[in-house]
Parts: sequence; C-alpha cells; structure tokens
Amino acid sequence: MTIIHKDVDSMENVVGHLWTRMTSDFLTALILGAGLFTVNIKMGLIMISLLPIGLIILWVGLKKGKSIQKSVNDKLADMVSLFVEYVKGLPVLKTFSESRDFEDKLNKSTEDFGKNSKKAAGFSALLLGGYNLVIELGFALLACTGAFLAFRNELSIFHYLMFIIISREFFKPFMNMESHWLNYLKVKDSYNRIRSVTDAPPVPEADNPQKPSNFDIYFEHVEFGYEEDGFRLQDADFRIPQGSLTALVGPSGSGKTTLTNLLLRFWDPNEGSIKIGGIDTKEIAYDDLLGSISIVMQNVILFADTIYNNIRIGCRNASPEDIFAAAEKAMIHDFILNLPEGYQTVIGENGIGLSGGQKQRLSIARAFLNDAPIVILDEMTSNVDPINEVKIQKAVSRLAEDRTVIVIAHRLNTIRSADNILVLDEGKIVQSGRHSELMTEGGLYRSLVEKQDMAGRWRLPEAVPAG
Ligand SMILES: Nc1ncnc2c1ncn2[C@@H]1O[C@H](COP(=O)(O)OP(=O)(O)OP(=O)(O)O)[C@@H](O)[C@H]1O
Ligand SMILES: [Mg+2]
Repeated sequence: MTIIHKDVDSMENVVGHLWTRMTSDFLTALILGAGLFTVNIKMGLIMISLLPIGLIILWVGLKKGKSIQKSVNDKLADMVSLFVEYVKGLPVLKTFSESRDFEDKLNKSTEDFGKNSKKAAGFSALLLGGYNLVIELGFALLACTGAFLAFRNELSIFHYLMFIIISREFFKPFMNMESHWLNYLKVKDSYNRIRSVTDAPPVPEADNPQKPSNFDIYFEHVEFGYEEDGFRLQDADFRIPQGSLTALVGPSGSGKTTLTNLLLRFWDPNEGSIKIGGIDTKEIAYDDLLGSISIVMQNVILFADTIYNNIRIGCRNASPEDIFAAAEKAMIHDFILNLPEGYQTVIGENGIGLSGGQKQRLSIARAFLNDAPIVILDEMTSNVDPINEVKIQKAVSRLAEDRTVIVIAHRLNTIRSADNILVLDEGKIVQSGRHSELMTEGGLYRSLVEKQDMAGRWRLPEAVPAG
C-alpha cells in the first residue's frame, strides 16, 4: 500500500516537477556565473570561493542524514500498514476485545514515526543552517571585497552593483541544494522500494512451451519445503485422472494448500516433478497453466457490483444465457431470481450481503463460466447450513462431471462420493482410497470422520427442501 500510494506519488512529484525546475535553476546559475566571470575574474573567484566548503559540509551531512531519512520512511511504512490492518481487522478486534492492545501498538508506531521525523527535521535544520551560513558568508565576502576594490578604483561602481545583484540569482539554486538533495534521497529510497516489487523474479518459463493433450495430473515423488528447515512435503506420489473428483483431507497444517500451490507453480518442488497430461508443468507456458485451472477459494472475492457482473468475471465475453446457465449449474440461479432486482442486484460494500455458502456458490458459477478443465476448490472451514451444504455438494459434483476437480475438504461428509481421497499428515500422504475403503481401513481418516461426527454438526439432514 505504501509503495503504491506514497512511493509512486513521491517519485512522480520529484521526477515530473521538481527535477525540471532544479535543472533550469542550475542552467540559469551557470549562465549568470559565466557572465560575471567575463566581467571580472577576480570578483568571480571571490564569489565562488566559499562554495566548495559549503558543498563539502552538505555532502558529508547528507551522507549521515541518509540513514535517518531511511528510518523515517521505514517507520512511515510500518505505521501505514498497521493502520490499514487495524481498519480491516476492526470487527475481529472488537469482538475479541483486542482493539485496546492494537491501539497501543498503533500509538507506539505513530510515536516512533513522530520521534524519527523530529530527529530528521532537527538534523536537517542544523545542516541547512550551517550550509546557508557558509553561502551567506561567501556573499558577505564578495560584498566587502568588492567595496574595498571599488574604493581603490580597481572595480567600477557599475560592475560592483552588477555582482551584488546578479550573484544573488547565482547563489539561489545553491541555497536550494539541501532540499534538492533531500528530494533525491527520498526518491532514491522510493525507487528502491518500487524496484523491490518490479524486480521480483517472474516464474521461469520454458523455452519451447508445450500444450498438454489431456488433463491427468501426476505428482511424481515430489519433495518440497518452503524454507530450509520447517515443514516438508515428503514423497508426494499420486495420479489424479482427468474427469475425477479427488479430495485432499488432513489436519490443519498437513500440506493440503501446499499441494495446490505446487500445482499452480506458486512454488516449484525441490525434487520430483508435477505433470499435466504427461508434460511437466515447467514445460507448459505459465499463462496456459493458470488458464487451465480455476480456483474457488475459501474467502471468495466479490466486487461491489451487480451479481451479473460478479459472475461474468469468470469469462468477460460471456452471453447472458451463459451466465444464467452457469448460475443454474452452481445451484444459485433460483436464489438470485428471488432477489429484489435479480441479477442486477448490487452486492458488496453498499449492496446486499451474502452468506458464506451463497458466496461460494457464486464463485462456483464463475468456475463453470470460466470452463477451465481443472478446478481447485478450497472448501470453507466454517460451518454451512445443511441446505447450503447440499447445494454446494451438488454443484461440485456437477463441476466434476467433465472436469478434473481437486477439493480441499474440511467438512468430510461432502466428499463421501469422491473418486479418490488423499489423506495427508505432516507433509506425507498416509492413506488414499474411496470413503468406504478408508472407513474399513481405519487409521487417520476414520478418526477424523469420527471426530467430526461426534461434533454432531456435520450430519446431513434426512430431507432437503426444494429451492
Ligand atoms: N509461505 C509459506 N512459508 C513458509 N511456510 C509455510 C508457507 N505456507 C505454509 N507454510 C507451512 O507449511 C505447512 C503446511 O501448510 P498448508 O497451508 O499446506 O496446510 P493445510 O493443510 O492447507 O492447512 P489448513 O487446513 O489449515 O488450510 C504449515 O506448517 C505452514 O506453516
Ligand atoms: Mg489450507
């Protein structure tokens, strides 16, 4: 946020406006200085005699000021991101009565920024004062020596006045050097921060990208860790046939999301390979890879726009018929028709709110419309009411009719009909098979199912009302 809002803005201001003015100021000074030198070399030399001293003071001082300026910018970035986090998290903080603590943190961060700013301001005032003093002394020296020379008839009064008046203009850009330099530091700092984003290495692309002819997914002895030590995915070796529904289950932190991150090449495996239709995902053009996968996330992103446009994000040039059909398949069409303005109802910040299950079905409608051959569905962790639950389940099995679907399942009863269930534990696939097989086998899967059943919230209702 700080990079986009502040750093880009400050670069625009300095590069677009201040530098042109600075350049023209210095050009003017150069021309005036050269003119004065041709009038009288001795006076010209006196005029610039103290300038090097001033510039050295400025240079040394600003070198030191660089770290102070950097810490001010860092503190500002900290403060802004903390504020954004605070505003975004306000409902959570309030419900957990945590807002006091957070406000203390905010206050501290604001004070830190204030302290650093004051320090920087004090430093630059001192530096500027010292520098300006030297420049003014240079002018005083010029005025006194000039008067002395004029008194001894070595300089005409006209030339003396010329030096006094024009040298003010000559010194002007040097007087502003300090702010120019500070601007330079600021812009350099902003530039570095912007570069840290634009220089992030892109996903390495294949030289001769290939297109998969089918969408069977293979993980072949995949090993992966985010960092040197810590979580490790070990020997993930399985096949997801095209057109099947595979569920990933396991305790929190067991590596379910990691598997999908690897398939999407958000990270690459340390060892082993991931193939689609027999082709290593590294050999597929990245846009093609992402284009062939739809993701239905846990936290569905909806825009403050009509329901119609929110579904249309799945495919920009879809016809109204396509959109209605997608909504119907996602089991959300009837719900939308019952809204006051149907598909034109605005949702989001100033519109109506939707339940988690409804949001997820909208997101499934997008996946239908997008029509990618592979769908990754990260099920919501929260409890969904039984009617919503059945609808989501139905929509997902429809998705799987002619697509390869990977469901990260949190509610285990939604995956009883899955073609294959991969059970993960601490980065290892400890079991795999259909629900009934895994139930007779026992082990982690059965204990997870039993735990959820005991919680009692997971059982399906006997009959589901229509609509
Ligand atoms: N970007 C990351 N950098 C470092 N470690 C990470 C990163 N993302 C996840 N991890 C770690 O990897 C492990 C597996 O995480 P993962 O998100 O795959 O779990 P999960 O099975 O999806 O869990 P959940 O059910 O809670 O979503 C965890 O220990 C997590 O802390
Ligand atoms: Mg996860």
